Amino acid sequence: MLANMDHEIYTQLAKTKLLPLYTATDLSCLDKLEEVLIKNDVRFIEVTFRSELAAKAMKKLSASGELTVGAGTVRSLKEAEIAVENGAKFIVSPAVVPEVIDYCLTRDIPVFPGTATPGDIQRALEYGIKVVKFFPADIYGGLKAIKALSGPFYDVQFLPTGGIDKNNFVDYLADAHVIGVGGSFIISEAAIKKDNGITADAALKELVEQLKEN
Ligand code: 3PG
Repeated sequence: MLANMDHEIYTQLAKTKLLPLYTATDLSCLDKLEEVLIKNDVRFIEVTFRSELAAKAMKKLSASGELTVGAGTVRSLKEAEIAVENGAKFIVSPAVVPEVIDYCLTRDIPVFPGTATPGDIQRALEYGIKVVKFFPADIYGGLKAIKALSGPFYDVQFLPTGGIDKNNFVDYLADAHVIGVGGSFIISEAAIKKDNGITADAALKELVEQLKEN
């Protein structure tokens, strides 16, 4: 079974361009998180399986239907199942994980496997997946690597994550092969906790403004 690359998640990501990566350790921050994302019209969030609260956070953030919630750091079939049961609409993995990809493809759930090498990208392509996560982007050559990989993989689009920040994200997005950027720089629990979201809101607003200018 091949991936459905016409899925609306890809169109949505290409439009929003920012995929916040969020690790939840305190569920009381989620209302404010949702509020700040909606206010800035960034209606995407990837909740990582890096905390025990991941599933609960996905469920809570999915409840209102205002955000498109995905699961990140999905390394096993079990995690993919839990994610989808709790409202995740897309799956992001740090690597190419066949059991996760098979599960997603049979359910028409967009999956972004983590890739860093031509071999990884080729494996993703064998499933028909033409949008891949490029991770860890900064360590594996950043934009220079994406440009080189886009030669042979001219029909692939990249979602770089890892080391992306407010100073370099627009450079990545200027590349036609970059569909969007992901990372913890977009919003974080720590920023929300600081002053009930004021800092997080201001920082996100600045990113969105930078996006509009470019
Ligand atoms: C990921 O899993 O995509 C990365 O850990 C994100 O890296 P960052 O924290 O540098 O954004």
